[in-house]
Amino acid sequence: MAQNWTPNSWRQKPIQQVPEYPDAAALAATEAQLATFPPLVFAGEARRLKSQLAKVADGDAFLLQGGDCAESFAEHGADNIRDFFRAFLQMAVVLTYGAQLPVVKVGRIAGQFAKPRSSNIEKQGEIELPSYRGDIINGIDFTPESRIPAPERQLDAYRQSAATLNLLRAFAMGGYANLENVHKWMLGFVKDSPQGERYKKLADRISETMDFMSAIGITAENQPSLRETDFFTSHEALLLGYEEAFTRVDSTSGDWYATSGHMLWIGDRTRQLDHAHVEYFRGIKNPIGLKCGPSLTPDNLIELIDALNPSNEAGRLTLICRFGYDKVADSLPKLVRAVEREGKKVVWSCDPMHGNTITLNNYKTRPFDRILSEVESFFQIHRAEGTHPGGIHIEMTGKDVTECTGGARAVSAGDLQDRYHTHCDPRLNADQALELAFLLAERMKTGRDEKRMVVNG
Ligand code: PEP
Ligand code: CO
Repeated sequence: MAQNWTPNSWRQKPIQQVPEYPDAAALAATEAQLATFPPLVFAGEARRLKSQLAKVADGDAFLLQGGDCAESFAEHGADNIRDFFRAFLQMAVVLTYGAQLPVVKVGRIAGQFAKPRSSNIEKQGEIELPSYRGDIINGIDFTPESRIPAPERQLDAYRQSAATLNLLRAFAMGGYANLENVHKWMLGFVKDSPQGERYKKLADRISETMDFMSAIGITAENQPSLRETDFFTSHEALLLGYEEAFTRVDSTSGDWYATSGHMLWIGDRTRQLDHAHVEYFRGIKNPIGLKCGPSLTPDNLIELIDALNPSNEAGRLTLICRFGYDKVADSLPKLVRAVEREGKKVVWSCDPMHGNTITLNNYKTRPFDRILSEVESFFQIHRAEGTHPGGIHIEMTGKDVTECTGGARAVSAGDLQDRYHTHCDPRLNADQALELAFLLAERMKTGRDEKRMVVNG
């Protein structure tokens, strides 16, 4: 067990991005109440995810992590969850085929509510108010009342997370995730996409593989792995009082686990070595992520790895790289080399969203081409360094929103106003997300063919 660590030892450390609750007693009462609530996940599940991520670290699996930038109370409905899950599963099938590896599926969902902000203040015209920090903390409406942090929001976030997770579990195990369904949806996408011709070749190969499997008698009826799937939850553990309330001892191992989600990550703004977030994370046994942005030096990174994964356990730590399409070539290779030199076991994942945000017509957006370009560079760099490009981490929705520009249906700057619904950062819509999966799968396949040619001379 981590030395001198308790679920509340983070309270002795300096902390960034902490909301100012006006009523400390009300906050403490809410946290005490949360601590009596049932956990959302149990330790055995977190261990199962960790063992799957260990395979990613070894180069034998691929990680797909994605979902909303910020879940919201307003958008909590069955359709949203279903549409997200549907888009996500299609991506997973396409990537499984492209990588020829199992895909570990982790949603940014059922707890992704608290947001770090680059400024404490939001200004509209002449009026300045505290920034919105996610529905678990305050309200998005631009009024003084709405922006006051309210503890009872944490109870609502917990209940929403529980309901979301319940439906996801039903979908994952109850037949909705059936590979034949997912395959049918994917064919629908290919038929309707303006770039459908381009994706058809890969889709046809998946269809042929499924026909072959069915011909030899492998079907969803007799193969549980074709009708069920493992699906895990994750979020940025920013609001540590909430996380502390759900930090529980696992009776099997005697270890502490965060039970608010299977995997938690540390954001790029809260990864200071001697601060509260790193302190909290070092004591929980879950698989964890660390966002790595352009300001992270190789030495910093190695110190953080030593603090967060002192036993160098594979699957414990995922490095989620978010540099920007124009910075990745400069930032990533030196981190990869330091990690290799020190023999650290990590999962390398690419978040091509957070380094590629621009403003157009007063909307925060992300051009699809830059997102694709950052992932491509990430793959090329890992190929050159001889390391495994282990996964991607994206902000996406199953809905037809207009938040990121580009893609086959070419969302333009002028279209952003049409269906711009995000509570925080711009997300890929369902078509853009699936297109990204097809384009990556195409490249993974080319990479494999090239490798085979080299091996075979
Ligand atoms: C996020 O993932 O929504 C986020 C805020 O990312 P980062 O910490 O990398 O900026
Ligand atoms: Co975001």
